[in-house]
Amino acid sequence: MWQNARSTKAAEYDHWWDQVSNVFTPNPESNERTMIALSVRSVWDLYFQIRNYPKGTEILMTAINIGDMYKVVEEYGLIPVPVDIDPYTMAPKLESIKAAVTEKTKVCLFAFLFGITYDIAPYADFLESQGIEIIEDCAQSWRGLDVFRGSPRAKMTMFSFGSIKFNTAFYGSISIIRNEAQLVD
Ligand SMILES: Cc1ncc(COP(=O)(O)O)c(C=O)c1O
Repeated sequence: MWQNARSTKAAEYDHWWDQVSNVFTPNPESNERTMIALSVRSVWDLYFQIRNYPKGTEILMTAINIGDMYKVVEEYGLIPVPVDIDPYTMAPKLESIKAAVTEKTKVCLFAFLFGITYDIAPYADFLESQGIEIIEDCAQSWRGLDVFRGSPRAKMTMFSFGSIKFNTAFYGSISIIRNEAQLVD
């Protein structure tokens, strides 16, 4: 009986996951997948578990974020490297990113603050040429998929629906992951 109850729950869960996926990544032919998780912080943590970067790897992070996002990086023995943002645009200057990159840099996290989003393409041209993975932290910038669903140049775009968010679901995060099954499976 317990087994039956469990499999019913699992089926319900799969159905629910499929429904959310159909909204966030509707095209099965595309290279995008949806991941549903407890929070953006837990996805960020999972990301480092999977990538298993060597200790001392540098993670560029646009300058303002919540403390826990830095803490997760440090928990893995990695080094968060802040990159200043321009207060008028809330975006970093390309020169600041270029100046912060070293041979130890593996990831650049763009945090879109206060609902502001911007095109990362100019940064992506440089970062991709250096083999640096791009992640978008949209915890503060969910405005609906028709307005902003992240950049196709980002490996992962994370949205949060935590209790303090404007469009809250009280908890949870949904991420779009591109060109890779490993991070979802
Ligand atoms: C910029 C930013 N990143 C990450 C987070 C963490 O989101 P979550 O609560 O889903 O872990 C927040 C939460 O407020 C945030 O503002």
